[in-house]
Amino acid sequence: MNNKLFNSTDQQLLTDIMLHRRDVRGNNFLPDELPSEVVEQILRAATLAPSVGFSQPWEFVLVRDPAVRRRVADSFEAENRKAEAQFSDHRRQLYSRLKLEGILEAPLNVAVFYKPSSGPVLGQTTIRETGEYSVVCAIQNMWLMARALNVGMGWVSILNPQDVKTILQAPADHKLVAWLCLGYVKQFHDQPELEKLQWERRKPLDLALHWDRFD
Ligand SMILES: Cc1cc2nc3c(=O)[nH]c(=O)nc-3n(C[C@H](O)[C@H](O)[C@H](O)COP(=O)(O)O)c2cc1C
Repeated sequence: MNNKLFNSTDQQLLTDIMLHRRDVRGNNFLPDELPSEVVEQILRAATLAPSVGFSQPWEFVLVRDPAVRRRVADSFEAENRKAEAQFSDHRRQLYSRLKLEGILEAPLNVAVFYKPSSGPVLGQTTIRETGEYSVVCAIQNMWLMARALNVGMGWVSILNPQDVKTILQAPADHKLVAWLCLGYVKQFHDQPELEKLQWERRKPLDLALHWDRFD
């Protein structure tokens, strides 16, 4: 249908989904398998994302195998020890108590890769990273669709991408963009957990907004 317009109820619904979307970690996943049609809806949402030159440069690896997940969790543990060491004093203490992934607890993990094109891509000729940005747009679509389906999703970035590529036997030119954990949840928090735990506060829009130039 051309020129579809949305009304204020639709706009409020979108706002609600964005407001209630959360990063979900292993302290909050239920073990129940996700029905295949739910997984498909989330992945189809990814494919509706904008992409530079309509290149659709995403690849998804659905990971259920506990042995594969164990190896990725080991990579997380190693990287997380190094990450924790970068903070000091009470931040380090707080960091050590944070649960920052749900690799083993979530019933489904999804690795999302960027697959570069072999030839030039319309729009990607100057800012090469627009390929990876397109994959991130797809991931955000997944996050919002998952939330609309009352499915939790968490993004794990504390990983060695080369470890993950080796574990998944990824082609050399593919770049790991995200490791996602998906599943039903015990509860959706009303605020980011990092805000609840006083690690970080939500930044007021004013602090990120400039008019005409940086001043
Ligand atoms: C690119 C990216 C990487 C992230 N990596 C991690 C991660 O490794 N571990 C984690 O617990 N959360 C990770 N997060 C989730 C953020 O911590 C979370 O989005 C933020 O605290 C705000 O909370 P909310 O998503 O519940 O609103 C990541 C989010 C993004 C966008």
